[in-house]
Amino acid sequence: MARVAIVTGGTRGIGEAISLALKEAGFTVAANYAGNDEKAAAFAERTGIKAYKWDVGDFDACAEGVKKVEEELGPVDAVVNNAGITRDGTILKMSREMWEDVIRINLGGCFNMAHAVFPGMRTRKWGRIVNIGSINGQAGQYGQVNYAAAKSGIHGFTKALAQEGARFGVTVNAIAPGYIDTDMVAAVPADVLEKIVAKIPVGRLGQAHEIARAVAFLCSEDAGFVTGSTLSINGGQHMY
Ligand SMILES: NC(=O)c1ccc[n+]([C@@H]2O[C@H](COP(=O)([O-])OP(=O)(O)OC[C@H]3O[C@@H](n4cnc5c(N)ncnc54)[C@H](OP(=O)(O)O)[C@@H]3O)[C@@H](O)[C@H]2O)c1
Repeated sequence: MARVAIVTGGTRGIGEAISLALKEAGFTVAANYAGNDEKAAAFAERTGIKAYKWDVGDFDACAEGVKKVEEELGPVDAVVNNAGITRDGTILKMSREMWEDVIRINLGGCFNMAHAVFPGMRTRKWGRIVNIGSINGQAGQYGQVNYAAAKSGIHGFTKALAQEGARFGVTVNAIAPGYIDTDMVAAVPADVLEKIVAKIPVGRLGQAHEIARAVAFLCSEDAGFVTGSTLSINGGQHMY
């Protein structure tokens, strides 16, 4: 029987490419999303991948969402914690709410999802958890103390959980993308984006499929000896 994978934020952007790459690799994929029903319906129609709506920042909603996926598709073997948001502003302009939203969704979402799937993976002695961090969690970024803290937290979370899963065949890895051509980056003002691209040694933004293929590898049988690692995919922008 095909293995089952959940991709959070899996209906557009990098997540959509990950959902497709995992489907191509033979997984039965459940693509989670937060609120954009129109994009999710179009994605499901286009790809034949089922979309499931819940907020990854909500602990109980994650438990319920995973339960529903398991009832419909079978036990979850892989989770890609890709859902993420930005609420940018310098610390002087950042409200407590902007801080909390980003920590709750970007970092809390990883905990909530791992908490829901880890016991089953451990019992079945096989699992793959891939967390999507960011170059800005490695290097920091002006106007993003919330986002950089959450993403940096993801890298620590990954190494700690990898130690808990290792003896049970459950690997936990992270990918730290650089700037990828998605809606999130389209929200960056053009003049700022131009300066960012000028600092990328390969001279262009990354494409979502360039992240997705690495996720597919980390979720494969072949990657069983890779755990606790962070793969930087950033066109050489930050050689960490
Ligand atoms: N793009 C980049 O350059 C870049 C660089 C480094 C890291 N990343 C990281 O890569 C991941 C994907 O980024 P992207 O650019 O593809 O983002 P995106 O185009 O903005 O898509 C975000 C996805 O996450 C979902 N989402 C947001 N909040 C959620 C929540 N509370 N619960 C469930 N799903 C939620 C969205 O669902 P809806 O469609 O319902 O809104 C959407 O499917 C993020 O973690 C981001 O931080 C991106």
